[in-house]
Formats: sequence, C-alpha cells, structure tokens
Amino acid sequence: MTYFPDTADFQKLSDHKRKMEDFSLRTALEGPGRFEKYSHSLENMVFDFSKHLITDETQDLLLSLAHSMDIEDIRDKMFAGEKINITENRAVLHTALRAPRSSSIMVDGENVIPFIYDVLDQMRSFSESVRSGHHKGYTGQSITDIVHIGIGGSDLGPRFVVDSLVDFCSGPALHFVSNVDGHDISSTLKKLSPETTLFIIASKTFATEETMLNAEVAKRWLLQSAPLGSISKHFVALSTNEEAVLRFGILKENMFPFRDWVGGRYSLWSAIGLSIALAVGFEHFRALLDGAHAMDQHFKTAPFDQNIPVLMAMIGIWYINFWGYTAHLLLPYDARLGKIAKFAQQMDMESNGKAVDRDGNIVDYATGPVIFGEPGTDSQHSFMQLVHQSPTPIPADFLIVKKPSHDLKENHNSLIANFLAQTRALAIGQTLDEAGSDISRVFTGNRPTTSIILPELTPFYLGMLIAAYEHKVFVQGVIWNLNSFDQPGVELGKKLAKPLKENIISQKIDPSLDGSTKGLLKTLIG
Ligand code: F6P
Repeated sequence: MTYFPDTADFQKLSDHKRKMEDFSLRTALEGPGRFEKYSHSLENMVFDFSKHLITDETQDLLLSLAHSMDIEDIRDKMFAGEKINITENRAVLHTALRAPRSSSIMVDGENVIPFIYDVLDQMRSFSESVRSGHHKGYTGQSITDIVHIGIGGSDLGPRFVVDSLVDFCSGPALHFVSNVDGHDISSTLKKLSPETTLFIIASKTFATEETMLNAEVAKRWLLQSAPLGSISKHFVALSTNEEAVLRFGILKENMFPFRDWVGGRYSLWSAIGLSIALAVGFEHFRALLDGAHAMDQHFKTAPFDQNIPVLMAMIGIWYINFWGYTAHLLLPYDARLGKIAKFAQQMDMESNGKAVDRDGNIVDYATGPVIFGEPGTDSQHSFMQLVHQSPTPIPADFLIVKKPSHDLKENHNSLIANFLAQTRALAIGQTLDEAGSDISRVFTGNRPTTSIILPELTPFYLGMLIAAYEHKVFVQGVIWNLNSFDQPGVELGKKLAKPLKENIISQKIDPSLDGSTKGLLKTLIG
C-alpha cells in the first residue's frame, strides 16, 4: 500500500493547506449557494459540510487522495467477506448483520446469511417471550428487570442505542453493568429481586475479566435464594465462545451466538443487540438494522463527492493530518443522544489509535483524534469556552433532531437557536471592532463544524447515523493504512494487571516492580 504522505495528492494538499491559511469561512458563508453545494441529504437526514475550511479544490484533492488509497477496493473486500482484518486473519462483516435475508456473503466457503437470520429469529422469539411475560422466572413470575453485563463493545453499543431510543422502550427495565468496580454491580442488584431479574452476559470471548467477575457475582446473588436449576431461566449469554458459556452453567439453548468476524465495537447489530430488542421490541431492532443497511448501500454506491461517510472521513483527514488538529468534538443537541461521544470514542479511538500500519511499519503521522463530547446546551456552559477561543481549534459535529418527542415548543425553539448560534459563532467569530475593542471578546472564527439533522429519532435514523460513523472510521483507517479491526493496545495493561492482582491477594509486593508502583501498591493494600 502507498505510504500516504508520499502520494502526489498529499503533496498537493500540503501546498493547498498553506494557501487555505488565508481562507475566511465568514467570507465564504456570505457568498450564495454554499449550503446547497456542501450539504447532503439521505432519507431526509441532512449532513451539512458548508461550515468547513474547504473549497472545491480542497474537496477535489481530498477525494483524489481517497481514490488513490484504494478505498473502493478495500471497502468492496470488506462487504464481500474477505479477511481484511489481517492481524487476526478475520473477515469484517458487521455489514452482513444488517443485510437482507436474500443476500449471500461467503466466508470460508459458507454463506453466513442463513446463520445470521437463524440468530435473528432466535432473538425475535426470545425477546417476544420475555416482553409478553411468557418467559417466567424460577417462582413463576414474569421478568421485570434485565441486567446486561458486558464491557467495551459488548456494552457501549447497546447502552447508547437503548438510551437514545428511550421513546421506544416498552419492555422490562434495562440496567447496564460494565465496570469491575464492585459499586457498579452492587448498586444495581440492590434495587432488584432475583425472582424477576434476567441476566444477559455479553462477551465475545467470554473471558473478559470484568465481565466474568460481574457474571459470577450475579450468579451467586441469584443462587442465594434460588435453586441451581434456576440459572436456565435467569441467565442468557451472547458470545462466540460456546465452551466457556457452557462451563459457566448457561444452557446451549440460552446462548445467542455470533462469529469472530464481528468486531467488539461493531457488535451491536449482532446477538450483542439482544438487550436492544428486549428493550424496544424486535421490530424496532429490525428497523435499526435497516437504517444501517440504507447507509451501507449509500456508502457502497454513492460517488465520493456525494458519499457522506467518505466526506466525513476525508474532512477529518484534512484537519488531523494537514492542520494538525488533534481532537474532535461530538455535540448532540438532544439529550437522548447524550452517550454518542462515549460510544464513538471506542469505535474511533480503539479502531484507529494505532502506531503500526498494515505493512508492519511504524507510522509517523497522526492516526485519529481524541474524541470527546457532551450534550449541548450543557457544554456551552462548560468546555465550549476553550472550543471558541483557545488557540487550537477543535472540529466538531453538531447533531440535532428536527421533530422532538415532547411538545415543549419553547424549549425546542431555544435548542435550535443555540444549535445554530454555536456553529455560526465558531465559523464567523467576532472581530475586535464588533467586540467594541475588548480583546477578550474577540473570536477568531474559522472553526469548522459539521451539522447533522435527523428528521426524527427513530431506530431507522439511529441505525443510519451509527453506520455513517462506522464507515467514516473505516475510510480513515484505509487512508492511514491501518488495520482498524484489532486492538493490541489494550493488551499490555491486561497483562500487567494479572501479576499485580497476585501481589494484592498474597499481600506480597514484588521487589522488581518500579518504585512508583510499589509505593502505590503499599498504600493501597497496607
Ligand atoms: O477492550 C478490549 C476489548 O477486547 C474490546 O475490543 C471489546 O469490545 C471488549 O474488550 C470486550 O470484549 P468481550 O466482548 O470479549 O468481553
């Protein structure tokens, strides 16, 4: 694969960036037609890129770079089930999970679609049985509470979706436990009754320390009052590891499988999404998959100059690799989307925060921004000070839903006004003159933002939105020549924790540890 700083387009973009240092977003936005030219609509969802530091030349150069880095080729290989996760020798097929039943996608000589639909059928029948009250606990009562135990991709996706689709939640109450900190599970269990609680153990490997510890705590809690046989009524597993699931004591018929070609951070569409189906009903889960599939089709077929994920990705590359901007902000102007940054953090930073490229070379360019964000308008009274005025600009995505699910018109009018005012202030700024010669009130402007408008916050539109971010991350990973689908960077910490835990249990401090760790350990266990 070409080293992307060696491409002719990279050189041209570097030269172009120097010219663009004089670009004024304020002036550009005063001209006609910029919104029409740089905004795109798909299924009435709007992505507006007009408040970016781009001209036609910038866009042409960025898209030419995208073509020269073989995005189409690797994209098609991903959709076709080729093993593009080269370090783990795996296909990457979260897109297959939302493909129609009539599709055919081959992995190792097997069409994976029938397997996907078998699991979806299993999810449908189980979720309907629990939601209708048909599935009973060990004392014959229906399930009122579900505890989803998982971490990372086995937590963040379902948690974000269930939170966002609060208006569609009609099933038993859902609780999420991820942290190994005992406060997380103990505070959750305190509120629940074993007779009416269902535990969902979500773990691709069924070996993740946090999840397995919490699952054992849950099992002990149930068995304090229930007979051993009750596990079959109160525990289900979402996993690829049947052997470990059976060893834990969960029956095979209570396991919802998926395959190794589903990456953890792309797994909400798989059996890991069972909690979503339980919370909102299977039909709404299906609509979520359909929304993602609509975005997949767009990503697969739209020319690059109209391709929303490609444009999101390449505009990101522009700032990260040419302007040196190191962060990216997600601001949902909708409380229901409040966890989007937390979700996108894992998807983006665990996928592309890498130091070695697909050819085994250490990279010497930035690979991915720090993602952060909180709901607007709260952030306006918090970190937006820095975003408006600190010397280093932070590109941001502003998200809003056109039609709220409440009828508080004045609140919504205020929300829209603030949403618009923030992106406008960031773009056009305020001159010294306009600030009445008060230098502390000068805003440089030229701070780039994407505005995203969802017509309504339905499962379909949420599916589209998440898939757009997934494909953005994919495109950036290809540009940086990374394998976006492994995560070696999380392993060292896990490895070091094991002997430290032995030190803690034995109360014996390993003398070969570094001085700081020894000191801290002594303080903690002393
Ligand atoms: O943090 C590393 C990681 O492997 C994530 O990629 C994954 O989503 C998470 O741990 C949970 O893994 P599992 O689903 O196997 O418990």
